[in-house]
Amino acid sequence: MKTNILMVCLGNICRSPLAEGILKNKVNSNSVYIDSAGTGGYHIGNSPDPRSIAVAKKYDIDISEQKCRQFKIEDFDKFDTIYVMDLNNYNNITKLTRDQNQKEKVKLLLSETDLETKEVPDPYHDDNGFEHVYQLIDNACSTIADKLGE
Ligand code: 4NP
Repeated sequence: MKTNILMVCLGNICRSPLAEGILKNKVNSNSVYIDSAGTGGYHIGNSPDPRSIAVAKKYDIDISEQKCRQFKIEDFDKFDTIYVMDLNNYNNITKLTRDQNQKEKVKLLLSETDLETKEVPDPYHDDNGFEHVYQLIDNACSTIADKLGE
């Protein structure tokens, strides 16, 4: 059986597309399915932000084909773990949970790291933030891949 992992941020154009692309690059797609979504619906159908595409490309990861979608209730059934980037996302998603099992699926991505900071900052208004965001996400995804035995 595949492990299904969903990466969630607000817009699904900056952070979670990076998280999807970075984790996909570390695991075997035969055993792990990874997707991403946004809590907001402002950019549905759009490609990732060009600044996220560029920083991923710098590390030989192509996220340009991803398309933005909004989180939906059925995602609680489909996914084993829902990684959120910040506490805003956490509150928005856990508000929608119907039981404890669903709530336990929702985790801050950086809770997988030893880092003091537990939130991936929103880089949308910060051109210089994308490298930092990439490194934070990469750190967490390395641990996730290790845990999955990949
Ligand atoms: P993301 O960044 O949540 O990492 O995709 C954002 C993208 C767009 C907006 C906010 C955050 N926005 O307000 O449009």
